[in-house]
Amino acid sequence: MSKQTVSRRVTVPSLRARKGSEKIVCLTAYTAPMAQLLDPHCDLLLVGDSLGMVVHGFSTTVGVTLDMMILHGRAVVRGSSHALVAVDLPFGSYERSPEQAFAAASRTLCETGAQAVKVEAADGVADSIAFLTGRGIPVIGHVGLRPQAVHLEGGFKARGRSAEERERVLAEARATDAAGAIAIVVEGVTPELAAEITVAVSCPTIGIGASNACDGQILVSEDMLGVFDTTPKFVRRYADLRTTISDAAAGYAAEVRSGVFPSEAEEYRLKSHS
Ligand code: KIV
Repeated sequence: MSKQTVSRRVTVPSLRARKGSEKIVCLTAYTAPMAQLLDPHCDLLLVGDSLGMVVHGFSTTVGVTLDMMILHGRAVVRGSSHALVAVDLPFGSYERSPEQAFAAASRTLCETGAQAVKVEAADGVADSIAFLTGRGIPVIGHVGLRPQAVHLEGGFKARGRSAEERERVLAEARATDAAGAIAIVVEGVTPELAAEITVAVSCPTIGIGASNACDGQILVSEDMLGVFDTTPKFVRRYADLRTTISDAAAGYAAEVRSGVFPSEAEEYRLKSHS
């Protein structure tokens, strides 16, 4: 194999080795151009099933299909060369059995070129994580607020605020870790619980709305970039793309209507013949 074809991406072992040391930087990506922009700054790009809400206008992630994940996963792999790329397995594609999870995960890795899949740690999913890990598929778990359980929970609410729930989330994280997960996304929990999970598990934790106690952080890129008018409490906006995009569209519309755009500089000319 020539040097040019050796992948320079972050590897699973190097990601795992970051436990308790240098913080892991993660963002979501769904398209090739966005992946290209984010890739140099990130250790991990997640093709999250949040794409159903962010890109396709769904009200939850529940209607996202495996075909959608694979289409966007391919685009993100094509647009990146540095970060490890992980793709969410969508609701209904993995919960029934380890065999069902293997079919969805192997198809995802083969058809996208991504390095890992992510699953929410619903009841019994630890068995599937162990099954996939044993067959060479790196799996990221997801505990705490689990968006795919939105209907059961009655909304997107923080988890682990009562003693009973706290024990349940901690047990899910321990089971996910013991099953061989390469990392665990911890979403929407108190700083105390995030710290307890991070100490209790051997793999890195990646927090979202889960304080600075985790080994890394992830945000939905469009939230962080200020694309939406409202964002959850835990999001910090690093840009105001909503204003930038709407000002640009207004400027373009005004210049098209007044005839200022396009100008001569933006026209093709006849080739000159000598
Ligand atoms: O779907 C997603 O984007 C996620 C992250 C927010 C962790 O699961």
